[in-house]
Amino acid sequence: MNSIIEIENLTKDYEIGFWKKKKVRALDNLTLNVEGGQIFGFLGGNGAGKTTTIKILMSLIFPSAGNARILGYDISDVKMRQRIGYCPENPYFYDYLTARELMMYFGELFGLDKAKSKQKTEELLTKVGLEEASWNKQLRKFSKGMLQRTGLAQSLINDPEIVFLDEPMSGLDPIGRREIRELIADLRKNGTTIFMSTHILSDIEALCDNVAILRKGKLAAAGKLDDLLTSQGENQSFEINVKGVSAENLQNAVSKIAGSSLTAKPSGATIQIIDENDVDKVLQTVKKAGGKLVSIQPVKQSLEELFVEKEK
Ligand SMILES: Nc1ncnc2c1ncn2[C@@H]1O[C@H](COP(=O)(O)OP(=O)(O)OP(=O)(O)O)[C@@H](O)[C@H]1O
Ligand SMILES: [Mg+2]
Repeated sequence: MNSIIEIENLTKDYEIGFWKKKKVRALDNLTLNVEGGQIFGFLGGNGAGKTTTIKILMSLIFPSAGNARILGYDISDVKMRQRIGYCPENPYFYDYLTARELMMYFGELFGLDKAKSKQKTEELLTKVGLEEASWNKQLRKFSKGMLQRTGLAQSLINDPEIVFLDEPMSGLDPIGRREIRELIADLRKNGTTIFMSTHILSDIEALCDNVAILRKGKLAAAGKLDDLLTSQGENQSFEINVKGVSAENLQNAVSKIAGSSLTAKPSGATIQIIDENDVDKVLQTVKKAGGKLVSIQPVKQSLEELFVEKEK
């Protein structure tokens, strides 16, 4: 598979203090490859190094060591810039421009002619859910969520092949988040690769194909989200849902299975076991008691658990 983002041993030390003598390591030898056509979640708690990485990829700051390539170009190569989009964390623009003017300005920067720029502006401002009444308002009068939406629209004006979104859902209300979630999913459908940082777990679960988890500037885990959530062998358990039989009637038999647990449900019961080989035993017990099987599922570790585990 060909990676369209290649990050190799990236390290970043911020120099702090008046004499810039003290160093803070924000990113520590990060190596990561991202393939095209997907939504890639770049995860980590506050201060983990997500924004630092994205800023390096955008050449807004420079790495202390290591390098990176996007679409095969070194990140310092401006030719690549035409083909990507970027929405910063807490986007902040020229206060006295209106949303429409800002979009037209970025359109021109990317070499779109006026007509095309106007068409993309209107299409994108609509898509990100900004009401037409606010298109001609100065950005200083915008709320946080409105600025976030404008930033997102701006990052898409050149129909980028890859778009880098730093916390795209921050500042949005629940409806706004759902709208932007749908917009991001649509982008992928149309072939855009999305590289997004976030710590909102439900958004990650709903959107991301692959993820990388950063912890204190280091890569703590990377891979397919599904695999990361199931690969915890020792924690793996199975949940058996049954109906037409009460938990009371099963209690005796189920309590004999090591590591099992039983929960009463309105229409039946849920039995949790840790050994796959005990499934038959449970099913026989249920059948004998006159119950029916509804479902058997492996219990996945939740993303929250994974996140916390890697954060330790
Ligand atoms: N300009 C700077 N000068 C000094 N240290 C910085 C600077 N920017 C970031 N850092 C430090 O680098 C580390 C990583 O910060 P970064 O902003 O990349 O984290 P993040 O993962 O984006 O966090 P958040 O989820 O809060 O946005 C932090 O310890 C932070 O304090
Ligand atoms: Mg950040």
